[in-house]
Amino acid sequence: MNSSVSTHEGRTALVTGAGQGIGQAIALALAKRGARVIATDLAAPEATVGKIGKNAFALPLDVTREEDWRSVFLQSQEIGDIDIIVNNAGYFPNRLIDELDLPTWRKTMATNLDSHFLSVKYFLPGMRKKKWGRFVGISSNMVGLAILGMSHYIASKMAIMGFMRGLANDVAGDGITANALLPGLMNTPATSSQSEEQKRSTWEQQAIKRLGEPEDITGAVLFLTSDDAAFMTGQAIVVDGGQYRLG
Ligand SMILES: NC(=O)c1ccc[n+]([C@@H]2O[C@H](COP(=O)([O-])OP(=O)(O)OC[C@H]3O[C@@H](n4cnc5c(N)ncnc54)[C@H](O)[C@@H]3O)[C@@H](O)[C@H]2O)c1
Repeated sequence: MNSSVSTHEGRTALVTGAGQGIGQAIALALAKRGARVIATDLAAPEATVGKIGKNAFALPLDVTREEDWRSVFLQSQEIGDIDIIVNNAGYFPNRLIDELDLPTWRKTMATNLDSHFLSVKYFLPGMRKKKWGRFVGISSNMVGLAILGMSHYIASKMAIMGFMRGLANDVAGDGITANALLPGLMNTPATSSQSEEQKRSTWEQQAIKRLGEPEDITGAVLFLTSDDAAFMTGQAIVVDGGQYRLG
């Protein structure tokens, strides 16, 4: 990734789940390209903002809570209108369908899906005024894989793709795009409990034979959130080293 260019100068980006893993890598990459970054997580991600330095702000945001979105919206007014939202926070417990309970189902949907709607509710009006905006939803390539115990997760991640397709239609007239990004298995704290053997059995299915790093996702995010991607919307982009190929 070339971070010496300032493709995102003058933009303000909000990233959810930016305390670690993919979200942190995205926040850092957007900042390197010149964006002012509002990094959010369950607790304010001070460590992420510390890595960025100036031009970054850490705010607490539980993406399932509307009052948190409202509060972040109000606080962001002091910082600047949000141009870019990357909804990255995710919840992914493994539960075979016979063990899946309604609270787990609802928490999965609230974290992985409600968040996208709530971000639009609070930040779309500002983007419409500026006639520019970018929504990126982090889905998963698991939507196309035969993984046990993830029916709730796969449902929520397919729904992100559906929401982005529908949203793209409603906002296109104001220079706003909405796309989903589908990572493959990545080396993050979330996957650290998997054995090396388990991880290998996944990455051996990829064209590129190695485990993905969070930084492998950032190039696609930078493109989708730049002016270069102005004619690209409602799409689902797979970034997984060539494991899952859309037909
Ligand atoms: N790691 C992978 O292999 C992989 C693969 C495909 C897709 N994804 C997706 O990428 C995203 C990030 O994954 P990761 O591996 O970096 O996860 P991670 O668990 O390492 O980090 C996720 C972050 O989200 C935060 N978070 C969780 N619930 C939240 C909530 N309700 N509100 C706000 N923040 C919350 C956590 O505190 C954490 O900092 C998720 O949406 C995940 O589904 C990950």
